[in-house]
Amino acid sequence: MNAEDVRKVAVIGAGIMGHGIAQSLATAGYEVTVTDTNAAALESVPARVERNLAAFIDAGLIAAADVPVILGRIHTAPSLEEAAAGADVVIEAATENQDLKRQLFNRLDAACPERTILTSNSSSLLISEFASETKRQDRCILTHWMNPPHIVPAVEVIPGPFTSQETIEVVTRMLRRAGKLPVRLQKEIPGYLVNRIQMAMFREVWSLWSKGVASAEDLDMAVRGSFGFRLPSVGPLLANDLAGDETTYVIARRLLPIIDSSPEPSTAFREMVEKGDFGLKTGRGFYDHTPQEWQAIVDKRDRDLLRQLKCSRE
Ligand SMILES: NC(=O)c1ccc[n+]([C@@H]2O[C@H](COP(=O)([O-])OP(=O)(O)OC[C@H]3O[C@@H](n4cnc5c(N)ncnc54)[C@H](O)[C@@H]3O)[C@@H](O)[C@H]2O)c1
Repeated sequence: MNAEDVRKVAVIGAGIMGHGIAQSLATAGYEVTVTDTNAAALESVPARVERNLAAFIDAGLIAAADVPVILGRIHTAPSLEEAAAGADVVIEAATENQDLKRQLFNRLDAACPERTILTSNSSSLLISEFASETKRQDRCILTHWMNPPHIVPAVEVIPGPFTSQETIEVVTRMLRRAGKLPVRLQKEIPGYLVNRIQMAMFREVWSLWSKGVASAEDLDMAVRGSFGFRLPSVGPLLANDLAGDETTYVIARRLLPIIDSSPEPSTAFREMVEKGDFGLKTGRGFYDHTPQEWQAIVDKRDRDLLRQLKCSRE
């Protein structure tokens, strides 16, 4: 199959990720059919997408007249089999559970036409952990979108050792057409790229917070105002080159032996989670806010990210 042949996409799972993925692909012109075992989640897809699109209009990224066209490309189906019939590409974005993903790939293999490419949005599993449920391993691949998927540009593309070059090409071109930045891995590795890198930073931040070296506000400000401020322009390796690699090497030799290298998250972070403080979901985490304040924070984050997205496209 060529990338130009992809017209219909099925999205399995209408949660945080599924509805945003459906929005991105429908905006790019694909006909998207979403399914979910939770009827309420499925029914609310058009309303959630419409709310997201309102922020895109405010940011000047789409016109108001685009909304009915985009929504008209998003369909819902009551079962995986109905969603998958006729799909050129399937994006599995159901709950993170290996047994569930194995079952879904097994059913998708039976329900889809032979040409269909099966992708999974798993954030921790490898495609080789469940593609063996199918008779089309060459057409199985992992695509790791980031939250919020309708805004964040990068999508990691992680083939298994059995994935064909054609599958990699078709999926990469579909993502590009949806305005995404596909990042291809040359081999499978747990955590892929982004979560491994992000986790290395989180470990040190949690450790500094646990030791009381700085408040949550100051830790966040230190990152946002320094290397975080540079990141939209230069990635870490280019930043090394610009700063002088020999200087960074000397600093690394001094700091790497003393920064946190524990295989467990810091004790205070564990205690916070054990207490049931999960952040936005429970009202308190590193920060303590009312539901209205949390909503205002999420709305501001989305406005900021959409402005950044607009700048990155100019
Ligand atoms: N949330 C994130 O930040 C994020 C980021 C990247 C990747 N992911 C990955 O994306 C996937 C989905 O995550 P999410 O955050 O959207 O989860 P979610 O809990 O918001 O949504 C998952 C949806 O899958 C549905 N589901 C469960 N079993 C199903 C089945 N048999 N058939 C159809 N639908 C079914 C659930 O009802 C739910 O609506 C997971 O694999 C997750 O690891 C999540």
